[in-house]
Amino acid sequence: MVVVKANSSPTVPTNKNSFPCSNGTTLPLTNSIINLDQGDPVVLGSYWKKMSEECTVVIKGSDLMSYISDISNVCWFMLPEMSDAIKRLHSVIGNAVTEEKHIVVGNGSTQLFQAALFALSHSHSHSSQPINVVASSPYYSEYQEEVEVVCSRMYQWGGDAAIYDKNEPYIEVVCSPNNPDGTLQIPVVRSEAEGKLIHDLAYYWPQYTPITHQADHDVMLFTFSKCTGHAGSRIGWAIVKDIEVARKMTRFVQMSSIGVAKESQTRVAKIIRVICDSYQNYGSIESELFFEYSKRKMRERWDKLRVAIGQSKIFTVAKFPKAYCNFTNESSETYPGFAWLKCEEGIEDAESYLRKLKILSRGGERFGVGPNYVRLSMLASDKVFNEFIVRLSNAKRDIVLK
Ligand SMILES: Cc1ncc(COP(=O)(O)O)c(C=O)c1O
Repeated sequence: MVVVKANSSPTVPTNKNSFPCSNGTTLPLTNSIINLDQGDPVVLGSYWKKMSEECTVVIKGSDLMSYISDISNVCWFMLPEMSDAIKRLHSVIGNAVTEEKHIVVGNGSTQLFQAALFALSHSHSHSSQPINVVASSPYYSEYQEEVEVVCSRMYQWGGDAAIYDKNEPYIEVVCSPNNPDGTLQIPVVRSEAEGKLIHDLAYYWPQYTPITHQADHDVMLFTFSKCTGHAGSRIGWAIVKDIEVARKMTRFVQMSSIGVAKESQTRVAKIIRVICDSYQNYGSIESELFFEYSKRKMRERWDKLRVAIGQSKIFTVAKFPKAYCNFTNESSETYPGFAWLKCEEGIEDAESYLRKLKILSRGGERFGVGPNYVRLSMLASDKVFNEFIVRLSNAKRDIVLK
């Protein structure tokens, strides 16, 4: 067995035996390293296993060969059934306005974030200065990394939106519910300069937060990864008000990957159809509806987490206010995809502390705050999550024993 050293890179799951593989291999986890650094959303695997038949797609050898899908659409590589499925899903859930908007499909919302930066900074090309990209801290760590990796002349990382006071144009990324801390966000920049907004609504789905309104912003990003857990299909979509912005985003996807695999689009459209049909045929089907199942699962995990945190007395976690969900017709809390924990006094580096328990996490500094904060995925498999809860509950005792 390959053993991962506790100080190896937290971002690369190098030990295949330390947590369940996607093929369902289940090895005992006691004493293994468990990886809660990334938000790999395998939590819902058991639901989709039950729905395997209904969601199966058959693609023949001669199918889907062309680059092109629909030349009458701004996003010419998007299959019409993909576009229809996205609109239908938002209409069933009621979480976003799609009427009189343009949809751009991408290879995950990661690609569309880059596409949106390209499109929005392009309209500032008369300026010699790169436009500043800001987000309120704690912000999703990948924003800064995705901005900086390309060393663009068009845009640059500008840091925490809450303290941005330059009189220079900016792009503010608003992630709501927020990764990492699950809070609901609104734009916070108070500069007089011209600002553009990207709303990352990856977690604005009923299992994570009550659906209180139909989001209606200039550029909204969604990802199938966090909606249903099918991260491997690499499908995200943007809902865009301005056709010129949608055109530029489409151009970016064209330049970086000449579109999005039609196999993935076909699969995602099929799964969305299955979900929407189940809500529309409610009463005639026996299995639990998808968002009811996933919300129950998230609630159970958050209940367990709060008990474990109470027992460990090492961390604290925020309590979220209740709100009425227009989709589930009940009042409920937010159940974020990540736990954002703060260390009690005396422990300065939460990530290192968890490493001693062989738990890989992502420390606060990656999110623009101090090392006394840490982010852990709530979306791991049951086996990994349950082991995490055991280790967290016993944390104080275990560390003292070492
Ligand atoms: C807030 C947020 N936006 C975007 C993404 C990227 O999603 P995708 O898998 O579609 O690239 C993630 C993934 O964790 C995320 O948490």
